[in-house]
Amino acid sequence: MTSTAEPRSWLFVPADSEKKVAKALETEADAVIFDLEDSVVPDRKKAAREIIKELPKRSNGPHWWVRVNPLGSEYHKDDLRLIRSAYVHGIVLPKAESGVDVTELAHRTGNIPVHAIVTETAASLFGLLSYRLPGSPLVAMSWGAEDLSAALGAASKYDAEGELSFTYKLARSLCLAGAVAAGVQPVDGVFADFKDDKGLKREAEAARREGFTGKLAIHPAQVPIINAAFTPSKAEIRHAEAIVAAFEAQPSAGVLSVGGKMVDRPHLVQAKRILERPR
Ligand code: COA
Ligand code: MG
Repeated sequence: MTSTAEPRSWLFVPADSEKKVAKALETEADAVIFDLEDSVVPDRKKAAREIIKELPKRSNGPHWWVRVNPLGSEYHKDDLRLIRSAYVHGIVLPKAESGVDVTELAHRTGNIPVHAIVTETAASLFGLLSYRLPGSPLVAMSWGAEDLSAALGAASKYDAEGELSFTYKLARSLCLAGAVAAGVQPVDGVFADFKDDKGLKREAEAARREGFTGKLAIHPAQVPIINAAFTPSKAEIRHAEAIVAAFEAQPSAGVLSVGGKMVDRPHLVQAKRILERPR
């Protein structure tokens, strides 16, 4: 992946586990998220910050991110203090409720890139168009079902058929549209059943078809599956190149035929997007 491309896989690792941190850095994840929030208990937060602080300084490779504790939490301030002295690319902000939260974080940190998790509270579902703010350091938005279901008092996030219930599908779609409206990367949420490779593949491919360009991961084994799902196939690349070439050959055409099918401007936009994806 080039350093400017959007990460396909964003791998979470509990930052208080030296062993897991070392392991996460050996994976092919495009982005690694050192977690200080839900996967780290209160009396391990300090140790987790120390582990992040000791990470080596480097200039290339996958981007390193830190998931801090939420804005209102008692740990947030110390997390931000760490960010100032660690070699990390950006901050993952959990339980964000609107674009104002990102602006608030930017005031506190001085515009370091932000990836916001935007559907974890009941109120957050009403704020998904609020992230398109000029000058915002936001670069990605993802959605979460676990915290949302706890917040809503749900017995389960699944319906009787084992599918995500409507509320979570709604959250997912609002995250997708909200991210695109804000001009940032839409990132699909975690697939918790890390032993079910087939289920993950199905979910990641479905997410890509819908417009997501990356997905959160919680286990090293999920990384290659996610990377593959968000990498365009050779056939897709050839087709996209053919569309771009056809419009370049006839710049005044609004609609053309490529491979016996109609293509117009939206296809050109989509083709260019495919050619920008990591391969
Ligand atoms: N990053 C790096 N290494 C990881 C990892 C991760 N996210 N998840 C598991 N591993 C390591 C394990 O430590 C284990 O290492 P070992 O072979 O040296 O013992 C190996 O990968 C295989 O793990 P496995 O036994 O299959 O899983 P587990 O039972 O040890 O861990 C979880 C399961 C869910 C606890 C673990 O995957 C995890 O911590 N995930 C991240 C959770 C998180 O960050 N949540 C917050 C966001 S929702
Ligand atoms: Mg959480």
